[in-house]
This record gives sequence, structure tokens and C-alpha cells, in this order.
Amino acid sequence: MKGMKVDLLIRNAAQIATPTGPGPARGGAMGFLRLISGGAVAIREGRVVAIGPTSEVEAQIEEAAEIVEARHQTVIPGFVDPHTHLIWAGDRVAEFELRLKGATYLEILQAGGGILSTVRATRAASAEQLMVETRSRLDRMLLHGTTTAEAKTGYGLEWETERRLLEVLHRLNGAHPMDLVPTFMGAHAVPEEYQEDPEAYVERLIEEMLPEVAAQRYPVDGPWSPPWANGRAAWFCDVFCERGAFDLDQTRRILEAAKALGFGLKVHADEFEPALGATPLAVQLRAISVDHLVSTPPEHLELLARSETIGVMLPGTPFGLATGHYGRGRSLIDAGGALAIATDLNPGTSWCESMPMMIALATRYMKLTPAEALTAATLNAACAIGLGHEIGSLEPGKQADLVLLDAPDYRHLAYRYGVNLVHTVVKRGRIVVREGRIQYD
Ligand code: NIG
Ligand code: FE
Repeated sequence: MKGMKVDLLIRNAAQIATPTGPGPARGGAMGFLRLISGGAVAIREGRVVAIGPTSEVEAQIEEAAEIVEARHQTVIPGFVDPHTHLIWAGDRVAEFELRLKGATYLEILQAGGGILSTVRATRAASAEQLMVETRSRLDRMLLHGTTTAEAKTGYGLEWETERRLLEVLHRLNGAHPMDLVPTFMGAHAVPEEYQEDPEAYVERLIEEMLPEVAAQRYPVDGPWSPPWANGRAAWFCDVFCERGAFDLDQTRRILEAAKALGFGLKVHADEFEPALGATPLAVQLRAISVDHLVSTPPEHLELLARSETIGVMLPGTPFGLATGHYGRGRSLIDAGGALAIATDLNPGTSWCESMPMMIALATRYMKLTPAEALTAATLNAACAIGLGHEIGSLEPGKQADLVLLDAPDYRHLAYRYGVNLVHTVVKRGRIVVREGRIQYD
């Protein structure tokens, strides 16, 4: 196509690094990136229209409304964070200190703290307060290069608050440049008022809350929602299968009910207690992803690797909890599986908005190569939320979500840590972070 008029041309980048294909990349293919030295990306109407060596891209262009010189910088796809508990009120800094002194996460939960203490704060918070607190996290995510994130509810655990969380997520989706993919997680913990009769809560979830969420529709021409999600208030349903949360049988019943109502499925599996069986269950129910996978036995990882379900590992969680036990990402990839990584952003185990930090951890403790970690944080992460055809790689036709790093080579993302290398963020073709500063209205 000669003589193209484009909205934005990014040129002369030291390097462009991107996975390719609709994905997910599995096994050895996770390490394959397209690398272009001296590259350019041309963008029109929010989509990539050309990518390649600068001279080749420029030969196709007649006019560019804006030009960004990316000398000394690396261009990568915007990060996709496929597992967050984005929306809550307050913090749990006191618990963090208790854990440093030896209390465990599950002990604190069983004593009515943990998730339940955030539930109390969240129930008491107004929609406005939730907007303000959550928006500051979204800004921090964007500043660290995340352009799309999954966001779970699960700090309401009663319909009124869960609905408020879905509404605030929907409003934020419209008010913030990042795209949010909502997941209903009413099965995050058994709420205090049901401690004596958890079965009654499971029943309530299945009989009342799930059908309510499934019936809730937001206008499709409003904030972003792909046609297959059809304006649903939540695209996915997730369950925390764990000792002290939901057992395997309860998890199965909730997920089967969700599936029948048209939700995609996700599972918190093997975060602490080994071999409860949530991973084979996720595979059997054809969940889109199964997440955490810290204590998963090798035979369950192999089963997962042979399935269509994507494994999502969350290295921020063992780091945040200082357990020292990380998911066996290397084994999943070596067995031919598709792996994504995420922050697990939440006030208990991992309050971290940074995907580059997850890349730094995944390369060191899950033994991923820097290329595999980039694929896990972009293309495979997009696939873990059903958006691999739209985002997660830089290719003509895909949404123009990308990041310019102040580094000459993508491997610096893994190599360096605890600092922010993100210089510029482009979301749907619009520059929303410039020189490390937020810029949107
Ligand atoms: O993924 N495990 C359950 N949910 C979160 C923690 C939530 C919290 O502690 O508030 C997790 O680690
Ligand atoms: Fe989680």
C-alpha cells in the first residue's frame, strides 16, 4: 500500500521486539520473537498498519500526523495483565508486618482477617471512594506499560457490593485509557455471615448471584467490549479453590453453573495446598485459564500442557508472601504448554502494578528466558483473557497498544528491576504516557 496517510509513525527504534501470531505461543514457540533493528510502526485509526525496518515502512507512507523518534529505545506490545484483583478499598499493611513475624496467609484468613478484612473495608466504601482508589492503581499500571488488564470482583461477597464493584469497573473502563476485562469472583472467600454454613453461600452464588451477573448488561456502544462478550457485566467467573475457601466439589458446582450461564471460566488453583485437583478440573471444564499453579504436582502440569487451557503464573505472590516457592514455569513450557504471567495485584499477597517486575521475577525464579517472559506478559496474557486476536503483539491489523522502553534491547526488561524503563505508552494509537508522565483527559 503506497501513499498511506497515518496518524502516528514511530521510527528508528533501536529495536522492535514482539511475539507474532494469534497465539497462544506454546512450548518452544514462546521463545520466538520478531526482532527488528532500526524499526518503525505506523498507526492509523488505532490500529497497526505497517511494521518493519524504518525505510520499508516509510516507503509506504505519504503523510504522518505525528512522528515519534525512538532512537535508543525498544518498542514492545503493551503489557496485558491477565489476573488482578484490581478493585478494593483500604490496605493490609499491618498484616504484612504480622506475616514478616511468622504468621501465615491462611492462618490470618482463618482468624477472620486477610480477604475478609478487605471485604469489610470494601463494603463500607462508596462508589466514589472505590473509583478514586482504583484509578490511582490504574494510572500506576499504565505508567508501567500495562494497556489491558483483567479485573476481578470478590471483595463484596454479597450482591449489593459485588454489583457496585462491577459498576465501578465499568465506569473506570470508560474513564481511563486502559481496557478492563471484568471477572466475577463472588467465590473469592466465604463471607463472615456464612462461616457457619458455607454451603448456603455456595447455593446463593449458584441460584442468585451468578444469574444476576449474567443478566446484567452494559451498553455495547459504551466502553469497550468485543462482540462475543456482548456487553456482559463480567466475561469470566473465577473460584478460589483452597483449604479455607472453596473445596473441589464446591468449585466444580460453581464453575458448571457459570459455564451454563455463558461465562468463560478461570480458577485459582494450587496456590497453597497441593493437589486439591483444581488443575485437572479446570482442564476438564475447558477453562480459558488456570492460575497460580505453585504447588501443582508434575502430572497435573503435564495434563495442563496437553490442554487448551492457559497456565497463568503469578510470581509476585510468592515474592510478596516471601514463601520462596514459585510456580514451575519452565516445566510447563518444556512440556509444550502455554504460559502467561500476571501481577495478581491485590492488597494481601501482591500489591504490585508492574508487569516488568513480574518479568524480572519469572526469569529468575520460574526459569523463563527473557523472550519467553515477554511472550507470557503480552501475547499469551491476551489469550488468557480471550483477546489474542486483538492485542498482545505488534502486527498489521492488531490494536495499536505499545510501549517504548528507555533501553536498547528488550532483555533489559528482565535484566533490570525495581525501576521503571517505560518512556512512552500508546493505547489504541493515542499517546497516553509521554516521557514517563501520564497524559490523558
Ligand atoms: O490471588 N487467593 C486469593 N486471592 C488473592 C489474594 C487476595 C487477598 O489476599 O486479598 C490471590 O493471592
Ligand atoms: Fe488472585
